[in-house]
Amino acid sequence: MRHFFSTLLVAGSLAGHVYAHRPYAPSSYDEAPVRQRKTLGFGPAHPHAEYHSSPYQIRTNGFTPLDPKMDPIDVAKIFVNDVLLPNQSEGMSYKIRDDSYTDKNTGVTHVYVRQLVHGLEVADGDMNINIKDGMVISYGNSFFKGPAPLEQASFARTDARDPRMEACVAAHGVANANRAFVSGDQVVMGSQEPLAPEVVQTIHDNCATAFEPPSFATDDIMDARAALLHFMVTATPNTKLSQDITDNFESFKDKLHVAPVHHFDSPHGENRVEFTLGDVPDTVNPVKAKMAYIQVPNQEGDATELQLVWKFEVEMQDNWYDAAVSVAPPHKIVSVVDWASDAPIPKPEKPVVGTYRVFQWGINDPSVGERSLEKENYDALASPVGWHSIPYAHDPSQRNVRRKGGEFWRNTTTTWGNNVFAQENWEGQNAFIDNYRPDGGSEKVFDYKYAPKETERTEALEEAKKYINATVTQLFYTSNLVHDLYYRYGFDEVSGNFQQYNFGRGGRENDGVIANAHDGSGYNNANFMTPPDGQNGRMRMYLWNTAVPFRDGDLEAGIVIHELSHGLSTRLTGGPLNSNCLGWGESGGMGEGWGDFLATTIRSNKVYSDYAMGAWAANRENGIRNYVYSTNFTTNPSVYKTLDKPGYWGVHAIGEVWAQILWVVSQSLIEKHGYADSLFPPAPLEDGTVPPGDFYRAAVAGKPLIPKHGNSLSVQLVINGMKLQPCRPTFFQARDAIISADQVLTGGENFCLLWKAFSSRGLGTDARIEGQTPWGGGVRTNGYAVPPACKDDDEVQH
Ligand SMILES: *[C@@H]1O[C@H](CO)[C@@H](O)[C@H](O)[C@H]1NC(C)=O
Ligand SMILES: *[C@@H]1O[C@H](CO)[C@@H](O)[C@H](O)[C@H]1NC(C)=O
Ligand SMILES: *[C@@H]1O[C@H](CO)[C@@H](O)[C@H](O)[C@H]1NC(C)=O
Ligand SMILES: *[C@@H]1O[C@H](CO)[C@@H](O)[C@H](O)[C@H]1NC(C)=O
Repeated sequence: MRHFFSTLLVAGSLAGHVYAHRPYAPSSYDEAPVRQRKTLGFGPAHPHAEYHSSPYQIRTNGFTPLDPKMDPIDVAKIFVNDVLLPNQSEGMSYKIRDDSYTDKNTGVTHVYVRQLVHGLEVADGDMNINIKDGMVISYGNSFFKGPAPLEQASFARTDARDPRMEACVAAHGVANANRAFVSGDQVVMGSQEPLAPEVVQTIHDNCATAFEPPSFATDDIMDARAALLHFMVTATPNTKLSQDITDNFESFKDKLHVAPVHHFDSPHGENRVEFTLGDVPDTVNPVKAKMAYIQVPNQEGDATELQLVWKFEVEMQDNWYDAAVSVAPPHKIVSVVDWASDAPIPKPEKPVVGTYRVFQWGINDPSVGERSLEKENYDALASPVGWHSIPYAHDPSQRNVRRKGGEFWRNTTTTWGNNVFAQENWEGQNAFIDNYRPDGGSEKVFDYKYAPKETERTEALEEAKKYINATVTQLFYTSNLVHDLYYRYGFDEVSGNFQQYNFGRGGRENDGVIANAHDGSGYNNANFMTPPDGQNGRMRMYLWNTAVPFRDGDLEAGIVIHELSHGLSTRLTGGPLNSNCLGWGESGGMGEGWGDFLATTIRSNKVYSDYAMGAWAANRENGIRNYVYSTNFTTNPSVYKTLDKPGYWGVHAIGEVWAQILWVVSQSLIEKHGYADSLFPPAPLEDGTVPPGDFYRAAVAGKPLIPKHGNSLSVQLVINGMKLQPCRPTFFQARDAIISADQVLTGGENFCLLWKAFSSRGLGTDARIEGQTPWGGGVRTNGYAVPPACKDDDEVQH
């Protein structure tokens, strides 16, 4: 019963995620067929994963702070070797991932470490180590803790006296030098050059018998094609295709085109078995495949063991999966993360700066304000060349052009720039370059009419399309402002933001956001796909047929912000190159919650009110969540324990609880620190330094800039917390990371305030969970306690 969890979870996820999207369409109205997006997300539990955010806990492990000037990467290595892995078994190693970075404002270096076993990555063996001034301030660790398994490429070198063994080991050495991967008597793909036939023969003749044979049939062991097709049977939303693959498995397999990926160099002693599989049915690009280990629970469920898997990156029309499928037949899906996140689904029960006519920043939707003419008020730090310039060399519409007429920059007059490509996508396909987008002319004036008329329902789509100019303009405007805002709170190039060109500031490039308005692939929703840094994020905004005229999600800033926040939280949690840290359960739920919290915070103002999510688009006063966000317990009773209730296993419901808790926390911060009228920090001075203005506290040399007010501070703490928390965080760990972020930023002056606010909704120090499951299950106990130091806090303050 080693694999019981995956079967069980496939069923659970499918049932929960096959959405019926047409709750509002009357049955008499036969609208155009709408594709229904199916999505999978599950994986094994990590009972041993830990996160420590108190320096005290870390020092008792025997680690004393090092020289504050020491290179943080060296500090991380010493910490890993001395404290975390003192007794590593043979075959175990690790690598420091090169998406590690130092946060410019806080000075915290976020170091990401990936576990290697026999040179293969452990896909979910992650450490994040946060270092400042030679000190480890917090760390997360989900490394596999047992001994390395003996199977696969592990050869007992000491026993090479048997001549067969000797021959095998020698041949294996040759294969290794060619970066081939050998298992049993099989030579697997991944070699740099074809191995000499005699080497292959030697392996074949000697290796299988010289060692313990693998515990599964060698015929199938290395066939990634079979594993991938098994995955596609489950993943494809096309039931006919699924049946077809099952019925004609061998012929589908034969049609797949396999191409090895060669690496010129393999640092860290990695054994990279990688290739691409082309012509895979229902995918839009070749599938990337690599061999890795993954952790699965042992029989007792209290620790993990390693399983050899194929890791696939599968790009489909409506999904972008990162899946782990066992190498051994029958090729179970061990874990799967969809880099696409859906937005809210209503419940079925019922230079020349541009000028844009838009709902101004802060006006959430057409029900709360009018459009006005707004300037391209780009942030000079975040978008140094504005929103409409992009280097020729990084412009996907200018293939193979490095410069034109000697010009480096291509200055557009359309909704096409370095951060965002905005356009219609009525076809609902993946192409975007040639899709229609408005052209503001040489003066870049995007002033378009928006006055949809009440029509017959059957005409409503055509009517909505008449305003595509206004819609795409709004989407471009909102998305660029979100880019600039998040940038100023630390979502910059090195931490994995979305830009085609990074101005030489580090991070991976060519990953601006593809923002599709009126996406034809659905109604009444929106979604965002976040692949790792260096690949475009893709946002798809839908029309909502909840009223006539149709409501347009592009015009509801809260939905756009929610979607873009998926990109923020996914890139910041666990590092820019790991998009698999918020896949399901509590962590996936918080991925939704941050988006609601940030959208709500952005629309809020000085005079407190409650807010609903998606109310205008969904045409429901209370929006698409169970409750509106409110500090009033009657209006919104969500507490930690709410997660145990029926209906709270899905990421949106979990996220609602998290967003509500953050809302309460932020209101506490506002009560103490007041309210900033604008969340945007001041523009930088000529020399690039940032004046405090009324936004930051007076600057202190060598200390981070601290937002002065409660709303801006809460956004900063939430974003810094994302950088500190471990991969696959729980509510507890995300809470601890926010408290740790305050420690780093302010020296912990809000320690008791934060604990009191979290505990008011059940996340106090004594909150507990028993029997936690990966998809968010378990039995929770609310905790209302605060640390001893905070008990008399009220009196102390007087
Ligand atoms: C590591 O090994 C040493 C001696 O070999 C032992 O004293 C220590 O307890 C071990 N530590 C761990 C974490 O297993
Ligand atoms: C295009 O924009 C860049 C960046 O703002 C600017 O330096 C350049 O002068 C512009 N080129 C033209 C031809 O306007
Ligand atoms: C969009 O604007 C252009 C002018 O920039 C205009 O020619 C076109 O007709 C408009 N499209 C629609 C659907 O109104
Ligand atoms: C909370 O909301 C309820 C129901 O709307 C209302 O009766 C109550 O007065 C509110 N409590 C506070 C403290 O505002």
